[in-house]
Amino acid sequence: MAFPGTGKIWINGSLVDWADAQIHIASHVIHYGSGVFEGARCYNTVNGPAVFRLDAHIRRLLDSAKIYRMESPYDQAAISQAVIDLIKVNGFKQCYIRPLIYRGYDSLGVNPFPCPVDVAVMLWEWGAYFTKEAIEEGLNVKISTWSRMAPNTMPAMAKSVANYANSQLIKMEAITEGYDEGIALDVDGNLSEGSGQNIFIVRDRVIHTPPVGSSILSGITRDSVVTIAKDLGFEVREQVLPREMLYLADEVFFVGTAVEVTPIRSIDKIQVGSGRRGPVTEQIQQRFFDIVRGDAPDAHGWLQYLDPTAPATLRAVTRR
Ligand SMILES: Cc1ncc(COP(=O)(O)O)c(C=O)c1O
Repeated sequence: MAFPGTGKIWINGSLVDWADAQIHIASHVIHYGSGVFEGARCYNTVNGPAVFRLDAHIRRLLDSAKIYRMESPYDQAAISQAVIDLIKVNGFKQCYIRPLIYRGYDSLGVNPFPCPVDVAVMLWEWGAYFTKEAIEEGLNVKISTWSRMAPNTMPAMAKSVANYANSQLIKMEAITEGYDEGIALDVDGNLSEGSGQNIFIVRDRVIHTPPVGSSILSGITRDSVVTIAKDLGFEVREQVLPREMLYLADEVFFVGTAVEVTPIRSIDKIQVGSGRRGPVTEQIQQRFFDIVRGDAPDAHGWLQYLDPTAPATLRAVTRR
């Protein structure tokens, strides 16, 4: 979906018109991938707009910057406030939120230290990542011929723009071959994740997902889904998973800020379970959507309302 090209973008503490939010072609990030970023969502809940797990997203942003020795001039509170203020300034009730910390303009050695550390936040309306139909019917995916990064090469726990070179290879291969998405294995051939989403497997009603050591991004939706699954009484195992577990699963689903909770109906043209969304996926998906829409109690305090005066007692079931 193309950008509308309107509204404000927050850059280093200033609000800039969308059209003027430009950086120099000699900026370090363009040449050497020296940037880290986040993707979060603001939902239009029944109690007003609220950002889902903003604290966790900004914490991960600063964690990513720390790994890359980028000293952010703005701390957790300042960046979080910038996000909230920007949503209000732009008048969004729901939107996708993209904060970035990157090495800017100074000189172009591989050494990034001379370059300034710049911070920006942009927002736009981004609907369903896959089709609406995919939420129920599921996706057709393939195991990518591309592996995720080996340990001690590109740190998978940093949400670095550089890691998305790998993600693009996975995504392009899948699309070119007629699939919706690709699943990458780690360098040992064990299950890792999708190009931009974590993965869960259900077998005999036990839920499995690869651990952070399997070259995954430590996803915030993944963490939320583990919590939701446990709240619903499921056993959840974070463990190394061989590729073939995918083919033997009763259900497989992706999770992430962009894809939310999306089932997978086939992998390498092998049908998963009944070939559409399974009952465990549906239960977790339903609870996830109920929470982010404000239809279920926000038991874990995941929604940060734009209007902080919305009393906690109102943040329970109001629409049923
Ligand atoms: C590679 C990768 N894995 C997993 C995820 C899911 O993470 P989150 O749930 O925090 O959005 C993303 C999305 O940002 C991603 O890009």
